[in-house]
Amino acid sequence: MPLELASRLDKIGRDALPLLLRDMPKCELHIHIEGSLEPELIFALAQRNGVTLAYPSVEALREAYAFTDLQSFLDIYYAGASVLLKEEDFFDMAMAYFRRAAADNVVHAELFFDPQTHTDRGVPFKTVIDGLTRASQTAQQELGVSSALILCFLRHLSEEAAFATLEEALPYRDQFIGIGLDSSERGHPPEKFARVYARCHELGLHLVAHAGEEGPAEYIETALDLLKVERIDHGVRCVEKPALVERLAAEQVPLTVCPLSNIKLCVFDSMDQHNIASLLEAGLKVTVNSDDPAYFGGYMNANFDAVFNGLPQLGPRHAYQLALNSIEASFASDAAKSEWVEKLDRVFADAS
Ligand code: ADE
Ligand code: ZN
Repeated sequence: MPLELASRLDKIGRDALPLLLRDMPKCELHIHIEGSLEPELIFALAQRNGVTLAYPSVEALREAYAFTDLQSFLDIYYAGASVLLKEEDFFDMAMAYFRRAAADNVVHAELFFDPQTHTDRGVPFKTVIDGLTRASQTAQQELGVSSALILCFLRHLSEEAAFATLEEALPYRDQFIGIGLDSSERGHPPEKFARVYARCHELGLHLVAHAGEEGPAEYIETALDLLKVERIDHGVRCVEKPALVERLAAEQVPLTVCPLSNIKLCVFDSMDQHNIASLLEAGLKVTVNSDDPAYFGGYMNANFDAVFNGLPQLGPRHAYQLALNSIEASFASDAAKSEWVEKLDRVFADAS
């Protein structure tokens, strides 16, 4: 950041933070759309589709959201997704997310979706992607929120299953911009999917992968070196290898950090223990994201609020940097990025 800008931002008081965090335009780069299914919508869709749930009420389901690690969350998350059967269900789920995003001044969202969670239950790939695509178009028209889809492979399934999913997806190649890798990280290293990523690279898709959430720092290195990813999802365990932290800073590899998720899944004990402030100080291209907001206690601005409340060393300069990082790290066009940076500058100029 230019010194002149940094010193101007440092003159803004911390008391301006609540409005700045709310009003600044931001991009969300790490949101699993199935993780935006609120318990109320899960119950409404279960009723609409005649699906029986293992929980008697919305309250009982919400009470089950006490996670001890990633797997304990994933078990409930996949059960929640079982109510999604029709195109309209995927549309309604995504529209509910886009309304929340618009309220948080999210100008652009790159949505992960897990096709295998649905196709393995007999829901056609077309149903999933058409519902999400229609929501994306409606969000642009009605809410002014831009978006794109990133297809995630479930890493606990086989390479063969990932290739089969890619084949199913290819007729819809123009409806998604990239691929990601999610689900149970430990024991499923990036190299398991090296050939799938190589093929997707040939197809001109953007490449990202979850790494260093629960898995070791080495998974971040192999995601970069073997999968050739452009961004790392999470990546917070990079601090276990100082040379890797230096590399991430030097190469300006974006990390899509998910603060509330990290607390709920016990990656950190509490927000004052989170390493996002030290990663920012070390010059890494860190962004703030919600991951699975319906399960982890909040959407984008709830994540920003939690970070700035828990880490008092962060001020307006860091808020600006996080919003700028999210815009620069997105896969949006340069023209769109310039427009959002101008908006960002206006919000901070008004507070100066
Ligand atoms: N799928 C949904 N949320 C996830 C997360 N935080 N990590 C891995 N897989 C996921
Ligand atoms: Zn995630």
